[in-house]
Amino acid sequence: EKDGYPSFMEKEINDQPDAVAATLLGRSDLEGKLTLDEMRIDPQVLKTINKIIVLACGTSAYAGQVAKYAIEHWCRIPTEVELSHEFRYRDPIVDENTLIVSISQSGETMDTLMAVRYAREQGAKTISICNTNGSTIPRESDAVLYTHAGPEIAVASTKAFLAQITATYLLGLYLAQLRGNLFQGQIKDILADLAKTPAKIAQVLANAAQIKDLALSMANTRTVLFLGRHVGYPVALEGALKLKELAYIHAEGFAAGELKHGPIALIEEGQPVFVVVPSPRGRDSLHAKVVSNIQEVRARGAMTIVIAEEGDESVREHAEHVFYIPETTTLLAPLLTTVPLQIFACALATAKGYDVDQPRNLAKSVTVE
Ligand code: M6R
Repeated sequence: EKDGYPSFMEKEINDQPDAVAATLLGRSDLEGKLTLDEMRIDPQVLKTINKIIVLACGTSAYAGQVAKYAIEHWCRIPTEVELSHEFRYRDPIVDENTLIVSISQSGETMDTLMAVRYAREQGAKTISICNTNGSTIPRESDAVLYTHAGPEIAVASTKAFLAQITATYLLGLYLAQLRGNLFQGQIKDILADLAKTPAKIAQVLANAAQIKDLALSMANTRTVLFLGRHVGYPVALEGALKLKELAYIHAEGFAAGELKHGPIALIEEGQPVFVVVPSPRGRDSLHAKVVSNIQEVRARGAMTIVIAEEGDESVREHAEHVFYIPETTTLLAPLLTTVPLQIFACALATAKGYDVDQPRNLAKSVTVE
Protein backbone atom coordinates (compact mmCIF):
# COMPACT_ATOMS: atom_id res chain seq x y z
CA GLU A 1 0.00 0.00 0.00
CA LYS A 2 2.93 2.30 0.52
CA ASP A 3 3.81 1.82 -3.16
CA GLY A 4 7.40 1.07 -2.22
CA TYR A 5 7.86 4.19 -0.10
CA PRO A 6 9.27 3.74 3.42
CA SER A 7 6.27 5.50 5.00
CA PHE A 8 2.73 6.54 4.17
CA MET A 9 3.81 10.11 4.67
CA GLU A 10 6.43 9.90 1.92
CA LYS A 11 3.93 8.21 -0.33
CA GLU A 12 1.35 10.90 0.37
CA ILE A 13 3.85 13.73 -0.25
CA ASN A 14 4.55 12.11 -3.59
CA ASP A 15 0.82 11.64 -4.29
CA GLN A 16 0.34 15.42 -4.31
CA PRO A 17 0.37 16.04 -8.07
CA ASP A 18 -2.46 13.48 -8.36
CA ALA A 19 -4.32 14.87 -5.34
CA VAL A 20 -4.43 18.36 -6.83
CA ALA A 21 -5.26 17.08 -10.33
CA ALA A 22 -8.09 14.89 -9.00
CA THR A 23 -9.54 17.79 -7.02
CA LEU A 24 -9.63 19.94 -10.17
CA LEU A 25 -11.01 17.19 -12.39
CA GLY A 26 -14.45 17.63 -13.94
CA ARG A 27 -15.23 20.91 -12.22
CA SER A 28 -14.99 23.29 -15.16
CA ASP A 29 -15.57 23.21 -18.91
CA LEU A 30 -13.33 24.43 -21.71
CA GLU A 31 -14.62 28.00 -21.41
CA GLY A 32 -13.65 28.02 -17.74
CA LYS A 33 -17.22 27.77 -16.51
CA LEU A 34 -17.32 26.08 -13.13
CA THR A 35 -20.06 23.67 -12.17
CA LEU A 36 -19.74 22.38 -8.65
CA ASP A 37 -22.24 19.52 -8.55
CA GLU A 38 -22.29 19.12 -4.80
CA MET A 39 -22.92 22.85 -4.26
CA ARG A 40 -26.49 22.36 -3.14
CA ILE A 41 -27.00 25.94 -1.98
CA ASP A 42 -29.27 28.02 -4.22
CA PRO A 43 -27.09 30.37 -6.33
CA GLN A 44 -29.49 33.20 -5.51
CA VAL A 45 -28.71 32.66 -1.83
CA LEU A 46 -24.97 32.61 -2.50
CA LYS A 47 -25.34 35.98 -4.23
CA THR A 48 -26.66 37.55 -1.05
CA ILE A 49 -23.86 36.34 1.22
CA ASN A 50 -22.08 39.30 2.80
CA LYS A 51 -19.50 37.50 4.92
CA ILE A 52 -17.56 34.24 4.87
CA ILE A 53 -16.17 32.56 7.94
CA VAL A 54 -13.77 29.67 7.41
CA LEU A 55 -13.71 27.21 10.31
CA ALA A 56 -11.03 24.55 10.75
CA CYS A 57 -8.24 23.28 13.00
CA GLY A 58 -4.54 22.59 12.53
CA THR A 59 -3.29 22.23 9.01
CA SER A 60 -6.82 22.64 7.63
CA ALA A 61 -6.98 26.07 9.27
CA TYR A 62 -3.81 27.06 7.41
CA ALA A 63 -5.53 26.05 4.16
CA GLY A 64 -8.29 28.40 5.32
CA GLN A 65 -5.80 31.23 5.78
CA VAL A 66 -4.62 30.77 2.21
CA ALA A 67 -8.27 30.76 1.11
CA LYS A 68 -8.87 34.14 2.72
CA TYR A 69 -6.31 35.83 0.47
CA ALA A 70 -7.76 34.25 -2.67
CA ILE A 71 -11.45 34.67 -1.86
CA GLU A 72 -11.19 38.29 -0.77
CA HIS A 73 -9.10 39.14 -3.81
CA TRP A 74 -11.36 37.40 -6.32
CA CYS A 75 -14.81 37.83 -4.76
CA ARG A 76 -14.52 40.94 -2.59
CA ILE A 77 -16.45 39.17 0.19
CA PRO A 78 -15.07 39.86 3.68
CA THR A 79 -13.60 36.56 4.84
CA GLU A 80 -12.51 35.57 8.33
CA VAL A 81 -10.67 32.43 9.31
CA GLU A 82 -11.18 31.09 12.77
CA LEU A 83 -10.11 28.04 14.70
CA SER A 84 -13.29 26.02 15.25
CA HIS A 85 -12.70 25.67 18.99
CA GLU A 86 -12.38 29.43 19.47
CA PHE A 87 -15.34 30.38 17.31
CA ARG A 88 -18.16 28.92 19.33
CA TYR A 89 -17.12 30.39 22.63
CA ARG A 90 -16.95 34.05 21.75
CA ASP A 91 -20.50 34.95 20.71
CA PRO A 92 -19.61 35.36 17.02
CA ILE A 93 -21.76 37.43 14.65
CA VAL A 94 -23.41 34.92 12.33
CA ASP A 95 -26.71 35.18 10.45
CA GLU A 96 -28.46 33.97 7.29
CA ASN A 97 -26.17 36.16 5.15
CA THR A 98 -23.07 34.43 6.51
CA LEU A 99 -21.47 31.61 4.58
CA ILE A 100 -19.57 29.16 6.75
CA VAL A 101 -16.84 27.20 4.97
CA SER A 102 -15.57 24.39 7.14
CA ILE A 103 -12.40 22.58 6.13
CA SER A 104 -11.72 19.11 7.48
CA GLN A 105 -9.77 16.23 5.97
CA SER A 106 -11.48 13.63 8.13
CA GLY A 107 -14.89 15.24 8.34
CA GLU A 108 -15.01 14.02 11.94
CA THR A 109 -13.10 16.67 13.88
CA MET A 110 -15.37 17.32 16.84
CA ASP A 111 -14.35 20.96 17.34
CA THR A 112 -15.21 21.75 13.73
CA LEU A 113 -18.43 19.74 13.79
CA MET A 114 -19.65 21.59 16.88
CA ALA A 115 -18.76 24.96 15.33
CA VAL A 116 -20.67 24.10 12.15
CA ARG A 117 -23.71 22.99 14.17
CA TYR A 118 -23.61 26.22 16.13
CA ALA A 119 -23.43 28.33 12.95
CA ARG A 120 -26.34 26.45 11.38
CA GLU A 121 -28.44 27.08 14.45
CA GLN A 122 -27.80 30.79 13.90
CA GLY A 123 -29.16 30.48 10.35
CA ALA A 124 -25.86 30.50 8.44
CA LYS A 125 -25.37 28.52 5.22
CA THR A 126 -22.64 25.90 5.55
CA ILE A 127 -20.28 24.40 3.01
CA SER A 128 -17.93 21.59 3.96
CA ILE A 129 -14.60 21.08 2.22
CA CYS A 130 -13.81 17.51 3.10
CA ASN A 131 -11.69 14.55 2.01
CA THR A 132 -13.82 11.75 3.45
CA ASN A 133 -16.97 10.72 1.62
CA GLY A 134 -20.06 10.50 3.77
CA SER A 135 -18.38 11.66 6.97
CA THR A 136 -20.26 13.62 9.61
CA ILE A 137 -19.37 17.25 8.80
CA PRO A 138 -20.41 17.07 5.12
CA ARG A 139 -23.57 15.19 6.12
CA GLU A 140 -24.48 17.98 8.51
CA SER A 141 -23.68 20.80 6.06
CA ASP A 142 -25.85 22.41 3.39
CA ALA A 143 -23.28 21.67 0.70
CA VAL A 144 -19.99 19.88 0.25
CA LEU A 145 -16.98 20.28 -1.96
CA TYR A 146 -14.99 17.07 -1.76
CA THR A 147 -11.25 17.10 -2.08
CA HIS A 148 -10.22 14.02 -4.03
CA ALA A 149 -6.82 13.48 -2.42
CA GLY A 150 -7.55 9.81 -1.71
CA PRO A 151 -7.28 8.33 1.80
CA GLU A 152 -4.67 10.06 3.94
CA ILE A 153 -3.17 7.55 6.35
CA ALA A 154 -0.21 9.39 7.91
CA VAL A 155 -1.26 11.45 10.92
CA ALA A 156 0.47 14.53 9.56
CA SER A 157 -1.57 16.06 6.79
CA THR A 158 0.17 16.66 3.45
CA LYS A 159 -1.76 15.84 0.31
CA ALA A 160 -5.08 16.74 1.95
CA PHE A 161 -3.66 20.23 2.60
CA LEU A 162 -2.81 20.88 -1.03
CA ALA A 163 -6.18 19.45 -2.10
CA GLN A 164 -7.98 21.69 0.42
CA ILE A 165 -6.20 24.78 -0.90
CA THR A 166 -7.16 23.72 -4.43
CA ALA A 167 -10.81 23.27 -3.40
CA THR A 168 -10.93 26.71 -1.80
CA TYR A 169 -9.61 28.23 -5.04
CA LEU A 170 -12.43 26.47 -6.91
CA LEU A 171 -14.95 27.77 -4.41
CA GLY A 172 -13.57 31.32 -4.68
CA LEU A 173 -13.69 31.22 -8.47
CA TYR A 174 -17.21 29.77 -8.39
CA LEU A 175 -18.43 32.59 -6.15
CA ALA A 176 -16.64 35.17 -8.34
CA GLN A 177 -18.35 33.66 -11.41
CA LEU A 178 -21.75 33.67 -9.76
CA ARG A 179 -21.47 37.17 -8.42
CA GLY A 180 -19.78 38.59 -11.50
CA ASN A 181 -16.60 39.70 -9.74
CA LEU A 182 -14.33 38.25 -12.42
CA PHE A 183 -14.77 38.00 -16.19
CA GLN A 184 -15.13 34.47 -17.54
CA GLY A 185 -11.79 34.92 -19.33
CA GLN A 186 -10.03 35.74 -16.07
CA ILE A 187 -11.48 32.64 -14.43
CA LYS A 188 -10.39 30.59 -17.40
CA ASP A 189 -6.82 31.93 -17.10
CA ILE A 190 -6.64 31.16 -13.38
CA LEU A 191 -7.99 27.64 -14.00
CA ALA A 192 -5.35 27.19 -16.69
CA ASP A 193 -2.65 28.19 -14.19
CA LEU A 194 -4.13 25.78 -11.67
CA ALA A 195 -4.15 22.98 -14.22
CA LYS A 196 -0.40 23.44 -14.61
CA THR A 197 0.35 23.04 -10.89
CA PRO A 198 0.37 19.21 -10.69
CA ALA A 199 3.28 19.04 -13.14
CA LYS A 200 5.05 21.80 -11.21
CA ILE A 201 4.58 19.96 -7.90
CA ALA A 202 6.12 16.93 -9.60
CA GLN A 203 9.13 19.11 -10.49
CA VAL A 204 9.54 20.14 -6.85
CA LEU A 205 9.35 16.47 -5.82
CA ALA A 206 12.01 15.59 -8.37
CA ASN A 207 14.41 17.91 -6.47
CA ALA A 208 13.69 16.34 -3.08
CA ALA A 209 17.27 15.09 -2.65
CA GLN A 210 18.60 18.60 -2.13
CA ILE A 211 16.24 19.29 0.78
CA LYS A 212 16.69 15.82 2.26
CA ASP A 213 20.47 16.38 2.38
CA LEU A 214 19.93 19.63 4.23
CA ALA A 215 17.60 17.88 6.69
CA LEU A 216 20.22 15.22 7.40
CA SER A 217 22.80 17.89 8.16
CA MET A 218 20.40 19.50 10.65
CA ALA A 219 19.49 16.47 12.78
CA ASN A 220 20.78 18.17 15.94
CA THR A 221 18.91 21.41 15.47
CA ARG A 222 16.88 22.48 18.50
CA THR A 223 14.76 25.25 17.05
CA VAL A 224 13.78 26.42 13.59
CA LEU A 225 11.93 29.57 12.53
CA PHE A 226 9.78 30.02 9.41
CA LEU A 227 8.95 33.37 7.86
CA GLY A 228 6.50 34.31 5.15
CA ARG A 229 4.24 37.13 4.04
CA HIS A 230 0.85 37.14 2.32
CA VAL A 231 0.01 33.51 1.35
CA GLY A 232 3.57 32.61 2.37
CA TYR A 233 2.59 33.28 5.99
CA PRO A 234 0.24 30.29 6.38
CA VAL A 235 2.84 28.24 4.51
CA ALA A 236 5.39 29.25 7.15
CA LEU A 237 2.96 28.22 9.89
CA GLU A 238 2.42 24.88 8.19
CA GLY A 239 6.18 24.32 7.83
CA ALA A 240 6.59 24.90 11.56
CA LEU A 241 3.68 22.61 12.47
CA LYS A 242 5.09 19.76 10.37
CA LEU A 243 8.43 20.04 12.14
CA LYS A 244 6.85 20.05 15.61
CA GLU A 245 4.57 17.12 14.86
CA LEU A 246 7.10 14.88 13.17
CA ALA A 247 10.56 15.75 14.44
CA TYR A 248 9.54 17.07 17.90
CA ILE A 249 11.63 20.14 17.26
CA HIS A 250 10.57 23.53 18.51
CA ALA A 251 9.50 25.56 15.52
CA GLU A 252 7.59 28.77 15.00
CA GLY A 253 6.14 30.45 11.97
CA PHE A 254 5.88 34.23 11.73
CA ALA A 255 4.54 36.82 9.38
CA ALA A 256 7.86 38.28 8.25
CA GLY A 257 6.64 41.83 8.84
CA GLU A 258 6.12 40.98 12.49
CA LEU A 259 9.84 40.26 13.04
CA LYS A 260 10.75 43.75 14.17
CA HIS A 261 7.84 43.74 16.61
CA GLY A 262 9.49 41.10 18.75
CA PRO A 263 10.60 37.78 17.28
CA ILE A 264 13.81 39.17 15.83
CA ALA A 265 15.12 39.13 19.42
CA LEU A 266 15.29 35.34 19.09
CA ILE A 267 17.87 35.43 16.32
CA GLU A 268 21.38 34.48 17.34
CA GLU A 269 24.39 33.03 15.57
CA GLY A 270 23.49 29.94 13.57
CA GLN A 271 19.69 30.08 14.11
CA PRO A 272 18.08 28.31 11.12
CA VAL A 273 15.40 30.45 9.47
CA PHE A 274 13.32 29.30 6.52
CA VAL A 275 11.97 32.13 4.40
CA VAL A 276 9.17 31.68 1.87
CA VAL A 277 9.82 34.32 -0.80
CA PRO A 278 7.02 35.48 -3.10
CA SER A 279 7.48 35.77 -6.83
CA PRO A 280 9.47 38.84 -7.93
CA ARG A 281 6.85 39.17 -10.71
CA GLY A 282 4.07 39.56 -8.18
CA ARG A 283 2.10 42.58 -7.07
CA ASP A 284 3.26 45.43 -4.86
CA SER A 285 6.59 45.37 -3.14
CA LEU A 286 6.03 42.04 -1.46
CA HIS A 287 9.18 40.46 -2.87
CA ALA A 288 11.46 43.35 -1.91
CA LYS A 289 10.00 43.41 1.58
CA VAL A 290 10.73 39.74 2.14
CA VAL A 291 14.25 40.07 0.78
CA SER A 292 14.90 42.83 3.30
CA ASN A 293 13.50 40.58 6.05
CA ILE A 294 16.06 37.94 5.03
CA GLN A 295 18.80 40.55 5.30
CA GLU A 296 17.61 41.58 8.75
CA VAL A 297 17.83 38.10 10.22
CA ARG A 298 21.05 37.30 8.42
CA ALA A 299 22.73 40.42 9.77
CA ARG A 300 22.06 38.95 13.23
CA GLY A 301 23.66 35.62 12.45
CA ALA A 302 20.74 33.53 11.13
CA MET A 303 21.37 30.62 8.80
CA THR A 304 18.87 31.38 6.05
CA ILE A 305 17.15 28.75 3.96
CA VAL A 306 15.14 30.31 1.20
CA ILE A 307 12.30 28.96 -0.92
CA ALA A 308 12.13 31.17 -4.02
CA GLU A 309 10.92 31.17 -7.57
CA GLU A 310 13.13 29.79 -10.33
CA GLY A 311 15.18 32.57 -11.87
CA ASP A 312 15.07 34.76 -8.74
CA GLU A 313 18.82 35.33 -8.45
CA SER A 314 18.37 38.23 -6.03
CA VAL A 315 18.01 35.90 -3.04
CA ARG A 316 21.22 33.96 -3.57
CA GLU A 317 23.55 36.45 -1.91
CA HIS A 318 21.38 36.45 1.22
CA ALA A 319 20.93 32.72 1.69
CA GLU A 320 22.96 29.76 2.87
CA HIS A 321 20.58 27.49 0.95
CA VAL A 322 18.12 28.25 -1.84
CA PHE A 323 15.40 25.90 -3.07
CA TYR A 324 13.77 26.93 -6.27
CA ILE A 325 10.16 26.24 -7.18
CA PRO A 326 8.68 26.66 -10.68
CA GLU A 327 7.06 29.97 -11.64
CA THR A 328 3.46 30.52 -10.72
CA THR A 329 1.16 33.34 -9.65
CA THR A 330 1.38 34.85 -6.17
CA LEU A 331 -1.92 33.35 -5.03
CA LEU A 332 -1.24 29.82 -6.28
CA ALA A 333 2.30 29.61 -4.88
CA PRO A 334 1.37 27.73 -1.66
CA LEU A 335 0.70 24.62 -3.78
CA LEU A 336 4.44 24.63 -4.53
CA THR A 337 6.19 26.36 -1.62
CA THR A 338 4.69 24.00 0.97
CA VAL A 339 6.21 20.91 -0.58
CA PRO A 340 9.90 21.46 0.33
CA LEU A 341 8.85 22.16 3.93
CA GLN A 342 6.96 18.84 4.10
CA ILE A 343 9.94 16.98 2.66
CA PHE A 344 12.26 18.71 5.13
CA ALA A 345 10.19 17.75 8.20
CA CYS A 346 9.68 14.18 7.01
CA ALA A 347 13.39 13.69 6.26
CA LEU A 348 14.54 15.25 9.53
CA ALA A 349 12.15 13.09 11.58
CA THR A 350 13.24 10.01 9.68
CA ALA A 351 16.90 10.88 10.31
CA LYS A 352 16.13 11.07 14.02
CA GLY A 353 14.58 7.61 13.87
CA TYR A 354 10.99 8.68 14.51
CA ASP A 355 7.86 7.09 13.12
CA VAL A 356 6.61 9.74 10.72
CA ASP A 357 3.26 8.04 10.18
CA GLN A 358 2.36 7.84 13.87
CA PRO A 359 3.92 10.74 15.78
CA ARG A 360 3.65 10.52 19.54
CA ASN A 361 0.58 11.93 21.32
CA LEU A 362 -1.38 12.55 18.11
CA ALA A 363 -4.43 10.96 16.50
CA LYS A 364 -5.44 11.17 12.85
CA SER A 365 -8.86 12.45 13.64
CA VAL A 366 -9.58 14.30 16.83
CA THR A 367 -13.10 13.23 17.75
CA VAL A 368 -13.15 14.80 21.21
CA GLU A 369 -13.57 18.48 22.03
O1 M6R B 1 -9.41 16.10 9.80
P1 M6R B 1 -9.17 17.58 9.99
O2 M6R B 1 -8.71 18.24 8.75
O3 M6R B 1 -10.37 18.28 10.57
O4 M6R B 1 -8.02 17.68 11.06
C1 M6R B 1 -7.59 18.92 11.54
C2 M6R B 1 -6.30 18.79 12.32
O5 M6R B 1 -6.47 17.95 13.41
C3 M6R B 1 -5.15 18.28 11.43
O6 M6R B 1 -4.94 19.08 10.31
C4 M6R B 1 -3.85 18.21 12.26
O7 M6R B 1 -3.40 19.49 12.56
C5 M6R B 1 -2.79 17.39 11.53
N1 M6R B 1 -2.10 16.56 12.47
C6 M6R B 1 -1.80 18.26 10.81
O8 M6R B 1 -0.75 17.55 10.24
